[in-house]
Amino acid sequence: MEMGKNIAVIGSGYVGLTTGTCLADLGNKVICVDNNEEKIAGLKNCKIPIFEPGLELLIKRNSLEKRLEFSTDIADATKKSDLVFLCVGTPPKENGETDLSAIENVTREIAKASNGYKIIVQKSTVPVNTAVGLKGIMKQYIKTEFDTAVNPEFLKEGSAVYDFMNPDRIVIGTESEKAYAELAEMYKPLNAPILHTDINSAELIKHLSNAMLAQKISTINLIAMLCEKTNADIETVAKGVGMDKRIGPDFLKAGIGYGGFCFPKDLDALIYILKKNGLDSGLFEKVRDINYDIRNHFARKISERFDKEGGLEGKIIGILGLAFKPNTDDIRLAPSTDIINKLKSKKAKIKAYDPKAMENSRKILEMEYCDNLYSAAENCDALLILTEWQEFKDMDLTRIRGSMKKPLIFDGRNIYNKERMKNLGFEYYCIGR
Ligand SMILES: NC(=O)c1ccc[n+]([C@@H]2O[C@H](COP(=O)([O-])OP(=O)(O)OC[C@H]3O[C@@H](n4cnc5c(N)ncnc54)[C@H](O)[C@@H]3O)[C@@H](O)[C@H]2O)c1
Repeated sequence: MEMGKNIAVIGSGYVGLTTGTCLADLGNKVICVDNNEEKIAGLKNCKIPIFEPGLELLIKRNSLEKRLEFSTDIADATKKSDLVFLCVGTPPKENGETDLSAIENVTREIAKASNGYKIIVQKSTVPVNTAVGLKGIMKQYIKTEFDTAVNPEFLKEGSAVYDFMNPDRIVIGTESEKAYAELAEMYKPLNAPILHTDINSAELIKHLSNAMLAQKISTINLIAMLCEKTNADIETVAKGVGMDKRIGPDFLKAGIGYGGFCFPKDLDALIYILKKNGLDSGLFEKVRDINYDIRNHFARKISERFDKEGGLEGKIIGILGLAFKPNTDDIRLAPSTDIINKLKSKKAKIKAYDPKAMENSRKILEMEYCDNLYSAAENCDALLILTEWQEFKDMDLTRIRGSMKKPLIFDGRNIYNKERMKNLGFEYYCIGR
């Protein structure tokens, strides 16, 4: 076997921790760094700060086999490594512009600490032309030779480990043949197609990928609202459209829309850059608007249904699903938060359950949290499905119906068959059907 590389990964969140762990599993020696001391102290004791299927096992295995370490010391990790991956957060500012302060600070620290040739790899999602700026910062502070590369990450939360290990493509943007060769060799075990690009194009590939996926979701949600008005069925429409190979079936599922740390902020960032360059950003602004429209449409459906009964005040609403999508504990910009706040503003009483996201939710939303889905449904005036977790698809609907005050379900993710729900005696509302 080839000798693994010495790698530092700066920022140990969903992307950094997954990247570092998977690279260790491929035989490299990896130090995952974060400035959150509690996170690093926990990781040293195999306490995993996020939920990602398969990640815990890999962290334990690679820690035990001494290929994976954790640290809060960027300088030390840089000195011990040949490749340094930047995986810190790139959050949005109020105006949609990307806040680059973390990635710039980290770059400065790496440059100052550098003790020999390094390849600095930018994995965080950033606006086009960021790497050029970071290279300028490097030059200002570094005394040794270095190269830079942009290597955007396309993993999805909820299947991050699988996606990292099985990518559709690997994009390596760099002017340096040496950096390209090192990275291509590092990724060789994944057997994936590699696209070698310039650095600016690599940055845009990531932004446009997310924007186009968000666009598919908003398009289908707009047409779902049209289906409701015209008595068509969005599942059938999506199926027929998705069978066209040029369009494809993925990301055509109607529902209460996208959330999370990526699509909303990356879309905002692209809108900002388009405007800054004097171009029309209207296309992507509409994608963003529709994503809010569909949520509001869903919330309106619920309150209109309760208008018949004197409004939502005092009504008990059960919530199934808080995470922005299944198989993650991430609630950042989740549609559920907005919908719950709307119901709370109308004085509904909320009882919620999510298999993994309740700990994060407790930090931002005050409401009753339930131990399981059945207690969330118990005695409710209505039950809302806000995340399509498998356990909700599999739940005992007869038991649910028996325990609710009224058999009323609003399904924001279209996970049940309409006919079946009717036969089971539910008053069932979904999206676009
Ligand atoms: N989450 C995803 O699905 C996903 C997918 C692809 C790309 N990305 C991109 O990857 C980047 C990271 O996203 P994430 O979801 O992993 O974010 P995250 O918030 O989960 O993780 C970022 C980590 O960086 C750490 N950090 C911040 N400043 C630091 C500093 N100065 N020094 C050391 N550590 C620092 C934070 O403590 C945190 O643990 C973003 O640019 C994001 O857009 C995310």
